[in-house]
Amino acid sequence: MVRKKSPRMISESPGPKSRELMKLRDKYIPKAVYNIVPIFVASSEGVLIEDVDGNKYLDFASGISCLNIGHRNPQVDEAIRNQLSKYLHLCFHVTPYEPYVRLAEKLASIAPGDFAKKIVFVNSGAEAVENAVKVARRCSGKSIVMAFEHAFHGRTSLAMNLTASVHPYKFHFGSLDQSVHRTPYAYCYRCSFGLEYPGCCMRCVEYIRDTFKVHLSADEVAAIVVEPIQGEGGFIVPPKEFLQGLRKICDENKILLIDDEVQSGMGRTGRMFAIEHYSVVPEIISVAKSLGGGLPLGAAIGKADLMDLVHAGGLGGTFGGNPLSCVAGLKAVEQCESALGNTGKLGRFLMDRLREMYERHEIIGDVRGVGLMACIELVKDRKTKEPAARERDQILTECYKNGLLIIGAGSYKNVIRFLPPLIITRELLDKGLDILEHAIRSIERTEGQTTSARLKTPM
Ligand SMILES: Cc1ncc(COP(=O)(O)O)c(C=O)c1O
Repeated sequence: MVRKKSPRMISESPGPKSRELMKLRDKYIPKAVYNIVPIFVASSEGVLIEDVDGNKYLDFASGISCLNIGHRNPQVDEAIRNQLSKYLHLCFHVTPYEPYVRLAEKLASIAPGDFAKKIVFVNSGAEAVENAVKVARRCSGKSIVMAFEHAFHGRTSLAMNLTASVHPYKFHFGSLDQSVHRTPYAYCYRCSFGLEYPGCCMRCVEYIRDTFKVHLSADEVAAIVVEPIQGEGGFIVPPKEFLQGLRKICDENKILLIDDEVQSGMGRTGRMFAIEHYSVVPEIISVAKSLGGGLPLGAAIGKADLMDLVHAGGLGGTFGGNPLSCVAGLKAVEQCESALGNTGKLGRFLMDRLREMYERHEIIGDVRGVGLMACIELVKDRKTKEPAARERDQILTECYKNGLLIIGAGSYKNVIRFLPPLIITRELLDKGLDILEHAIRSIERTEGQTTSARLKTPM
């Protein structure tokens, strides 16, 4: 069985079949739709992917956190097959069906908040966030939305405007939405105010209060949209006081808190929703990615009384919550719940190993994470914190050449993020980390005298 085998080293990449398919890709697919690795997949199972040339890879990307329960999870596969034999697309607006309401019932029961909840299903993370904002605007009668530096909320029009990075997400895609107000996140490694936690007294939270006194009336703000742990921005883990401070500001000013759990949710951090680590309850939660167990599915989970303020027909869509995605979703949520224990345990193991690597490799400037959502941030110099973006890319390429699929993140393109399926074994996690450390060493070596002099442990 594929799952039990360790990935073998691949000497040459990409293989001939992948190269041939890449020519088709280049001819028919725009370059804007980027690819991280130049291989085409033949099959996948558990935590392993096999390409069309027979190379096997250990997957530390999980389709960017869409496969928390692993590739081709048997229970999800079975649920999809069963559903296939009954009915496929119906459109919930035309003829309701059971999987939609069953999954809604399940999400309402597990989402934080001791109050009734209602759920709308959509097709993606961006849609999940956009629908949360629509609800917030409709029921508050206000239009401004606060979003954070380094945030990522998707590529559709509003989501793109909520997203922070200009390159590549917003560059020359039209005028920016004036109703989005950006404010600093608690990126303590690179504090926007040049301060240090905890001496900073959470200046980033107080800054919002100052903003309301000087630049912007809180009365016009419908919602604050926040990732409890920032994903694309660089796996940035804020202190507890940050999210608790936002909750307080929202309460003081009748602003809704929208929690974007698209990347951090579904058990990734050892809790079903990352915001649970902060003991904060938001009014609306956006989820997607691993919710569908590999099929496209997103949801906005909100307080029932707020969700019901939106008029009939105001939310939804043709494919949103299609039957296959919902049956897969039900099984996926259950499987994520069962993986929570493993996630917590392996998360601690992962952090320990990354901290050990920090001791050995000066290029690692910071190690952070919760559960199996962890990262290393690479710098040319620990004092100046100059981002090591080129070196990061070299390390990722070296990993891929040695059978580990692992991806980057970060506004400064210098972060390596760990997103293995939550069902990974300790042995395979360890194996992947060995490949990564080997890659770091080889890049340090090729960087020449200067870098190798920084290496504390000789090879
Ligand atoms: C936090 C967060 N929100 C929203 C999105 C957008 O999701 P999608 O690509 O499914 O539209 C992403 C995608 O990476 C994300 O990480």
